Amino acid sequence: MSEDIRVGVFVCDCGTNIAGVVNVPEVVEYAITLDHVAYADEGKWSCSVDYLARMQEAIKEQNLNRVVIASCTPRTHEPLFKQTVKEAGLNPYLLEFVSIREQVSWVHMLEPKVATEKAKDMIKMGVAKAVLLEEGEEIRLPVGTECMVLGGGMAGMSAALSVADQGFKAIIVEKGAQLGGLLTKISTISHEHGEMAAEDIVKARKAIVEAHPNIKVYTGAEIEEVKGYIGNYKVKVKSNGASESFGVSTIVVATGMREIKPEGQFLYGTDPRVVTQLELEGLLKSKQVGSAKKVVIINCVGSKNETRGCCNIGCPVSVKNALRLKRENQERNVWVLYRDLSMVREEHFHLDAAKGAGVKFIRFPDDRYPEVAKEGDQIKVKVYDILVGREFTIPADLLVLTVGFEGDETMEAIKGHLKVSSNPEGFFQERHIKLGPLDFPADGISLCGCAKNPKTLKESCEEGIGAAMRASIPMRNGYIEAEGIVADIDLADCNHCGICWKRCPYGAIRVSEEKEPSVVKALCKGCGLCAADCPKECITIVHYSDEQLLAQVEAALEENPRQKILGFVCHWCALGGVDMAGVSRLQYPSPGRLIRVMCSARVPIKLIERAFELGAAGVLVAGCEFPTCHYISGNYACETRVKRAKKIVAKKGHDPEKLWNVWCSAADGPKFANTMREMAKQLNLK
Ligand code: FES
Repeated sequence: MSEDIRVGVFVCDCGTNIAGVVNVPEVVEYAITLDHVAYADEGKWSCSVDYLARMQEAIKEQNLNRVVIASCTPRTHEPLFKQTVKEAGLNPYLLEFVSIREQVSWVHMLEPKVATEKAKDMIKMGVAKAVLLEEGEEIRLPVGTECMVLGGGMAGMSAALSVADQGFKAIIVEKGAQLGGLLTKISTISHEHGEMAAEDIVKARKAIVEAHPNIKVYTGAEIEEVKGYIGNYKVKVKSNGASESFGVSTIVVATGMREIKPEGQFLYGTDPRVVTQLELEGLLKSKQVGSAKKVVIINCVGSKNETRGCCNIGCPVSVKNALRLKRENQERNVWVLYRDLSMVREEHFHLDAAKGAGVKFIRFPDDRYPEVAKEGDQIKVKVYDILVGREFTIPADLLVLTVGFEGDETMEAIKGHLKVSSNPEGFFQERHIKLGPLDFPADGISLCGCAKNPKTLKESCEEGIGAAMRASIPMRNGYIEAEGIVADIDLADCNHCGICWKRCPYGAIRVSEEKEPSVVKALCKGCGLCAADCPKECITIVHYSDEQLLAQVEAALEENPRQKILGFVCHWCALGGVDMAGVSRLQYPSPGRLIRVMCSARVPIKLIERAFELGAAGVLVAGCEFPTCHYISGNYACETRVKRAKKIVAKKGHDPEKLWNVWCSAADGPKFANTMREMAKQLNLK
């Protein structure tokens, strides 16, 4: 190491949050004895404006070139301290964060001595890593002003209009011959005060879209190829038989949904008098319900069960159509058979109207669906009325099934083109239900409307605008800035095995004709899956290199390793769970020494092995609950690797039962605390 490393350690009292348990002066005294530490200080409130200024002065006066902050959690305060060191002239990647509040003082409140020793250990681990830190930099990519909208339904048209009204160019790629999507198949849309012809809504929106100078529309179109990344997508589209190529900077996916046909159930597919709600919409639209005098509607067909959730829109649609059927012919008897009616307040207007018009509502039990059979030519529906407590048989001239939905038929192909994923219910999977509900994991691609889950027209249009806004941010800025935590491949040792580019969840590793891999930094999210799986160990993750993680492992286990559990926790949910245990003041045994990684997929087997070699009592790898890894599939990769690691450590003579793998949500403090308790118990630790 040519540079003279001078580490500054700043230990926070956090008022009495830390100092009320941990002997901070003793920890500061200890820190100054560590190799390369040139300065250590205690701060009453480290994140206060005054102390941040003092920290900046110390960095300059003491000529510090690495900083360790021992305070609260990096999940909330790291950006602030990064900015502080940056303003002091230090590269922000030369900062290491140690969480001695959430992981020490708040969870070992009754053991001040133990807590103080643990805080020292953790600072030692932080310094060991800090010494090896290298400068990093955010990556800035230019982003242009063209956005492709996949799907020309109401969500897609809303997105395109929103993009175009901001002065950007929108290109709609619609598979159908016309714009309008699902709405073109629907008769009416209900609103607070009544109903409106769906056709009129489509017509009005379509006219604005088609006349907009910033919108280009391809109909009868399918995507043939999408290459590239945010700011630089190259798209090949086939529209009405002719291929065309263009470049865009961002993409909005609004491909809609389709009904799941209940083939073989309730006589569907065998008797033309049994139809789905969407097919009924078609009949109503073309006035073909005809002379049907007895219409039965069965709700929740194929949804709200063990495999699929509520379809969100079935109840209000069934009520709207029941009322429509009744109004069309007062003599007609209409029954709605339901499990429960999930309706928002405005929709109760229609429910009251339907009841007032004479529609009969029968509630059946969750575990006793109506039975449909034919007697002669007559369809008979047998239903148990939960409120009356008896079974009825209703003859039906028309039977309508309110079925569930899934993503439309183009979904699989689009998944492949955009390298995005779907959820078990067959819809596109957003980046994160709370943190990125309109985004895909890859920057520059947003998601809206029924491609994500079934929703009302109003919700679809609103989401379309939301997704357009997500796409507009980088287009407005003219660039995107990506974190500097990215992979770097040293080709000197690479044997071109292809594992890295095959396993990268973001398609961020490209290969040349000679099979030479290279990282597209703008696409890389720094999960570290590639580095952990690389058999030649030639991939480094900036700020989470093997050497840095190894230094932490060795520092943690330098003393009393047999009394310690070495834990790797992902920055997102697992560390969230750790923090939540702290915030909730859950008290658990103290042997854990945690190392933060961005994703559980970053943990290579060799580090687990090394921990056991050094005598660790146990090793824990903790990540996000399935399927919510923040890097698409990192936790799945981790699970597979931990299984492999168990076999490897067993061969080396270590007990594989001492290697634990836990999946935790960011809110699940109790799960993390219980894991620590359980591990300590089984490993006979205090
Ligand atoms: Fe938590 Fe991947 S981010 S396991």
